[in-house]
Amino acid sequence: MAGHSADGGAPWVEPERERLLRRNRELSVLNTIAEGLNRAVDLREALHTALVLVTDLLGLRTGWVWLVDEQTAEPELITAQHLPPALRDDPSRMRGMCYCLRTFLRGDLSGAANVNVVECSRLQGLIAGTEGLHFHASIPIYAGPHRLGVMNLAAVDWRELAPDELQLLSTIGYQIGIAVERPRLHARAAEAAAAEERLRLARDLHDALAQSIAAIGLHLETADALLEGAPQCPRVAHEKVRAALRLTRASLQEVRAIVHNLRSPALGSRPLPEALRALATEYARTYGLSVEVRGTAPTARLTPMQESQLFRLAQEALTNVAKHAAAHRVWVRLTPGPHRITLSVRDDGRGFIVGRPAAGPAPGGYGLKSMTDRVRLLGGVLRVRSQPGRGTTVTATVPVEGGES
Ligand SMILES: Nc1ncnc2c1ncn2[C@@H]1O[C@H](COP(=O)(O)OP(=O)(O)OP(=O)(O)O)[C@@H](O)[C@H]1O
Ligand SMILES: [Mg+2]
Repeated sequence: MAGHSADGGAPWVEPERERLLRRNRELSVLNTIAEGLNRAVDLREALHTALVLVTDLLGLRTGWVWLVDEQTAEPELITAQHLPPALRDDPSRMRGMCYCLRTFLRGDLSGAANVNVVECSRLQGLIAGTEGLHFHASIPIYAGPHRLGVMNLAAVDWRELAPDELQLLSTIGYQIGIAVERPRLHARAAEAAAAEERLRLARDLHDALAQSIAAIGLHLETADALLEGAPQCPRVAHEKVRAALRLTRASLQEVRAIVHNLRSPALGSRPLPEALRALATEYARTYGLSVEVRGTAPTARLTPMQESQLFRLAQEALTNVAKHAAAHRVWVRLTPGPHRITLSVRDDGRGFIVGRPAAGPAPGGYGLKSMTDRVRLLGGVLRVRSQPGRGTTVTATVPVEGGES
């Protein structure tokens, strides 16, 4: 009876041993593929290793791998082994869509049950140069819901794959999918980090320099008007030119600090309330405004990042007051709460309709966005309240780490 061992053992012993042997072999194949994928220095090499191992596993010689290009969505032949001459010698035969790729991209080749053996549309109708190959099994390569590509394994005959084989091939498809997706994810993370860094730099440059350059312009304009109106009395004009020079030097220092990715010298090692008071004095002097700073920050609970972002925010809000508000008085308030801290900048100026872009030749519009981004970066919210003729209040509320109860 089939399955009986020579020593008269139970009939299930032989199939059970076969099953275990096969399972062992499958595990060792998966392990070898995982090792090959890990060891390979680039994706092509990794996929080639996987292809060789899988063709071995199925007792086949020939196979190839397509990956779908992320940008163009076009299939690209990444690797192939032992292509029959009909495909190897005519590169056009291995370009573009075919039946199995179309099926895959439609989403009809999604799992083990669908790893099927199909008649290869690239070999269809060919007689010479096919080495008898006319069918192939297609293993979809997925990473989560992303369709990455297909591995094709060519065979002479159509044969139904056993459920175990289908399961193993699907697992291999997922293994390969992870190997393909991993470097792409790294590349995407690096791109996102670079984009975030560029944005931060743009924000810092804008907030550090826009107001200094606006102030320099204002000083020089005043000096020019004074020299034109009363050239015999240049003392005040000199003062304005000197103030412009002071700001130019400070701006240069800021640019250097940003370029060297140092902490802003404007904030320096001072705690936030002190830095805000110095900022207010500078604005009051430069723009002839009355700027009052109230409140304290639970400095020990604010990270350097929170301090510098809030400082920059105040800087931009004050610059907006100076540029747009025609205000007399400004109030800067720092209000620590149990779980969050609030920074507000209020003015008694002309106000504006929030959300409506300013008219005029240079509507600008980077400052409010940069303030919103800064606050969002800290996990907080920015509110801008304003009405024409009723002044403007910009309020940033950000959570404080380990807030008191
Ligand atoms: N305190 C304010 N008083 C009156 N209007 C203001 C005030 N703050 C902002 N605005 C209005 O909101 C608009 C948008 O401000 P935002 O800071 O985004 O851009 P900007 O100051 O014009 O240019 P940028 O900041 O890019 O140099 C301003 O152009 C102005 O019309
Ligand atoms: Mg602005």
